[in-house]
Formats: sequence, structure tokens, C-alpha cells
Amino acid sequence: MSRTFIGDLLIFLSLVVASLAKEKLTNTLFLGDGSVLQVNLTSLHDYSPYTKRIAIEANSKSMFNVTNVSSSASFIIFQIHTYQYNVTLSYDKDYLDSNRSVFGSNVGLFSKPTRNILYVRNDNVHKVEALLVAVAYNDKSPVPGGCNMEFNTEIAPYAMVQTDDTMIIVDVQPASAPFNSVRPNCEKNVVTVEMYHRFLSSWDFSLDSYFSTIINMLTVTDIKENGVEVTSSSVFSPMRRVFNAYTGVGSVYVAVATYGDYSAAYVPAFSYACHPIVDPDSCKILSGFWSNFICVLCFFVGLLSLCLGHHLILVDMVLPIFFMGTVFGYAALGTIGFGLLMGLGFIVVWLGSKFISIFDNLMLNLTLGWFFGCVAYFSSPDSFTILQNDGIFWTFFVSLSLGIALIMKLLLDVASVITCATFSSFMVILSLDYWIGSSLKYIIINFIRRIAVEGFNLAIIEPPTQTMDICLIVLWPCLALYRVSKQCLRVCSSESSSETDPLLPQF
Ligand SMILES: *[C@@H]1O[C@H](CO)[C@@H](O)[C@H](O)[C@H]1NC(C)=O
Ligand SMILES: *[C@@H]1O[C@H](CO)[C@@H](O)[C@H](O)[C@H]1NC(C)=O
Ligand SMILES: *[C@@H]1O[C@H](CO)[C@@H](O)[C@H](O)[C@H]1NC(C)=O
Ligand SMILES: *[C@@H]1O[C@H](CO)[C@@H](O)[C@H](O)[C@H]1NC(C)=O
Ligand SMILES: *[C@@H]1O[C@H](CO)[C@@H](O)[C@H](O)[C@H]1NC(C)=O
Repeated sequence: MSRTFIGDLLIFLSLVVASLAKEKLTNTLFLGDGSVLQVNLTSLHDYSPYTKRIAIEANSKSMFNVTNVSSSASFIIFQIHTYQYNVTLSYDKDYLDSNRSVFGSNVGLFSKPTRNILYVRNDNVHKVEALLVAVAYNDKSPVPGGCNMEFNTEIAPYAMVQTDDTMIIVDVQPASAPFNSVRPNCEKNVVTVEMYHRFLSSWDFSLDSYFSTIINMLTVTDIKENGVEVTSSSVFSPMRRVFNAYTGVGSVYVAVATYGDYSAAYVPAFSYACHPIVDPDSCKILSGFWSNFICVLCFFVGLLSLCLGHHLILVDMVLPIFFMGTVFGYAALGTIGFGLLMGLGFIVVWLGSKFISIFDNLMLNLTLGWFFGCVAYFSSPDSFTILQNDGIFWTFFVSLSLGIALIMKLLLDVASVITCATFSSFMVILSLDYWIGSSLKYIIINFIRRIAVEGFNLAIIEPPTQTMDICLIVLWPCLALYRVSKQCLRVCSSESSSETDPLLPQF
């Protein structure tokens, strides 16, 4: 009896805790048209920002009255992060000057402690959920965006993000040394700017995850703890980073300026690499009947090949050739129809090459080499910036593929078993990957983008490796080993019954 009492008590307590936690998260302040939000910054430091969840009424203007700024603050980065919709944050009541306001969904303005009113305008016909943030820095901190040359406002602590289907380009402006005199100090290389990056879980478009991820990337300490630093490119301005777009995976990008022992964070930027609210179709990877059909077909062909391939090894060897041909065709011509035609073309070439003894099996081995090249590109560390050079990249890629193909040639017939096992298991994994939304498909997609998308050489690949990806990475070798073991069993059984059944039919 006492056990059930304690059990009930525990359940009751956990419910209370849960409801308190929920209370805290949904403690949103509603801002109607013309309202004034008192922002009390008494206990503001660079390690403890002021944060407040707000909801801004449709077609409204409101203002923030900043009071009680702690005396140690030299400047404040005042930010507003909205979910999906754009708002205007402005120094002026009339919002007219584009150089006195900033428009977007992750925006911020530099503010002196003496200036105490900022304005926000929501032009959308929707109520907009937002997070209000203020971070204060002392007079020894560098000023993020203090040496702005390109953006509209005089000081630009925010990032500009350009997104398309394949890449996300994040630009910030140089930081200035601390404002001790009237003019900012913008000598070169005085202040370093680094960028950090953090993924959300895939396909998590919830408000709470969005805001909590941003809250975890506001202060320099949190950013260094929760984010991953990304290397700057040697090719263009150190203020720009280009990221591979992982559709449906939210990510936060934030720059940190460092001057001596002091650092200051820029306003974090955000992208899902699609628009879940405004344009939900942009987040679909498999859209339409044909792509779904091909995905299902790919799954069953892969599965059949895994289970029965050892009986029909010649048919099985067609798969890798066809797969590689299709990918090449798609990369070169951009439609899946041409891709499939090219796949058939590759099969014809392969059958032809069977009649020339030195080329025998070379093409099959090359498919494995190519595939490993793709895997190497997918998992290459972003610090390996030398691969941004197209010449070096393709030399490296082709040498790796040829090297693997030649090594495989030494393994004779075993090589084709390994190749078939790799491809049939990958076809199963690939279609599972499309259905569960993990990111192993980018092994192939990145290769296609590298060929087809201009400027993709500069993109940071760094894939999000999350629970689902790890499950698939574990499942993949199991499937491949299953296929190899079936082949071995077949060979062993035929040897023990002393039949002359070679591993592979000869031509
Ligand atoms: C600001 O907050 C502090 C403590 O957090 C409080 O003591 C003070 O009265 C507040 N001031 C205003 C104007 O609300
Ligand atoms: C801003 O807050 C201060 C101090 O609380 C107050 O005196 C002032 O009237 C407020 N300004 C506006 C526009 O509400
Ligand atoms: C802070 O708030 C208190 C009242 O809560 C007020 O007396 C004091 O003048 C304020 N200080 C500043 C710097 O605004
Ligand atoms: C927000 O603004 C950006 C650029 O200013 C634009 O590309 C985007 O479509 C806007 N979003 C919405 C929801 O209007
Ligand atoms: C902002 O724009 C106004 C005109 O629209 C111009 O007079 C002013 O010099 C500009 N200020 C800056 C800092 O560029």
C-alpha cells in the first residue's frame, strides 16, 4: 500500500514539475498595436542575457522601453528572433530610413545604454511569435559589425543569410576594436571573427526547439560550448561562410568577434534550408508520384539483390553499373529520365567491355571506387579547405576511385561480391534514409551538387549526424555482410559437394 502511495506521490510531483516547466516555456507576453514593453535590464551581463518570449499582433507597431541598464554596460546588442516571418526593428518611430532599421527574422541593433527606446513593426497579416534578447558588453569588448561597409545600418551586428535549394550563404560584417574614442578602430586583423554552427534535430519545426536552440547560442560561452566552429574559406572574404543545405534540418549560425581576452557575439542567424510555414512543399524531399515510386523500387530491388543476388550474380552486377550511370546522367543533365537512360547506356558499355580482357571487371571495380570517393567527400572534415579547389578535388577524387578499383582488381572475383554487397545494401539504406529523413542520401547528393551547382566547391559539407543516421550507419554493414555471407555459404556448399561451380560465371 505504501508503495502505491509513493508511486502516486511521484506521479503527482512529476506532473507538477512538468506543468511548471510548461508554464515557463509558454510564458509569452502579447504585444498589441501601440503597446510599450518595459525592458528592465538591471542584472544584465555578457554571460546572462535578457530573454523574453513575445507574440506580436498582426499589422502592429510597438516599442521597447529599456530601463535600468547596469552601469558596467558599454553597449547592448538588442535582438529579435521571429519564427518564420519577418519584422522590422528600428531606432526611429517612423521606420522610414532603411539605414536606421533592419528587416528580417533574426535581426538586431547596436544600442548605447543611454538610448532607451527601440521600435518593432510587424507588417504580416499573422501574429508573429518572437524572442526578445538583449546582451550587454563592457567597454573592453569588440563591437560586432562595428566596421560595417556593406549593410544598411551604421553598425551591423546581424548576419545576412541567402538560402537556395543547395547552399546557405551567411555573411557578417567586420567587428571593430572597443569604442574608446569617437571613431571605431577598423585596422585590419585587429579583431578576429569566427563562426559557429549548430544543428537542430531533423524535421523538428517546433517553436520551442527553435527558441531554445537560439537561447543556447547567445553568449560567447554558450556558443563555444554548444556550437561547432567552422573554418573560413581561403578563397573569399573571411566574413562569409557557405554551408551545404540539408533540407529540413534547422541550423543556427553565429559569429564571435575576439579582441585580446574579450569576445562578443553577433546576432545568431537561422535556417531550415526550406520554409516549413510559408511554403511547406519546399521541405519535402520526395515530392510527387515518380520520386516516391523510384524510392520504393530502389528499396525492393536492393532487398531482392541482398536476398537472391548470390543466385544471379550477373544480373546483380548490373545494379552498381546502372546506379552509377543514373547518378552521372542526373548530375550532367538534371532530370531523372536522362539519368535512367544514361544508366542503360552504362550497362551497354559495360557489356561491351566484357569482350576486352584488360577492361574485364574494371568498370565494376570503378563503381566501387567512385562510391568510396563519394563517401570520402561526404565525411571530409571542413578544415580540409584544399578540396575547395576544383582541380585538386577532382584529381584527388579520380585518384582515389582508380586506386580502389586497382586494389579491387587484385582481389579478383571477391571484388565483385564486395561491390554488389555495397550497392545493394546502400539501395536499401538510401530508400530508408528518404523515408525517415536522415542525411545519408547526401553521400550521392553532394557529389551531384559538386558537379552541377556553381560555387558548391566552397560549401562546408559537415553533415548532421543524428540518432537516425547512426542507426542506418550500423544497419548498413550488417546488410552488406549478410549479402557477402550468403555468397560465401553458396561457395562453401558447392565446394563441399565438389561441384565445379565457380564463384562467378565466366564469359
Ligand atoms: C528591475 O528589476 C530589479 C530586479 O530584477 C528590480 O529591483 C527593479 O525594481 C526593477 N525596476 C523596474 C523599473 O521595473
Ligand atoms: C520608459 O520608462 C521610464 C522609466 O520607467 C518612464 O519614465 C518613461 O515614461 C517610459 N517611456 C515610455 C515612452 O513609456
Ligand atoms: C532603476 O529602477 C529604480 C526603481 O526600480 C529607479 O529608482 C532607478 O532610478 C533606476 N535606475 C536607472 C539607471 O534607470
Ligand atoms: C523575409 O525576408 C527575406 C529577405 O528580406 C525574404 O527572402 C523572405 O521571403 C521573407 N520571408 C517572409 C515570410 O516574408
Ligand atoms: C541614412 O540615409 C539618409 C537619407 O536617407 C542619409 O541622409 C544619411 O546620411 C544616411 N546615414 C548613413 C549613416 O548612411
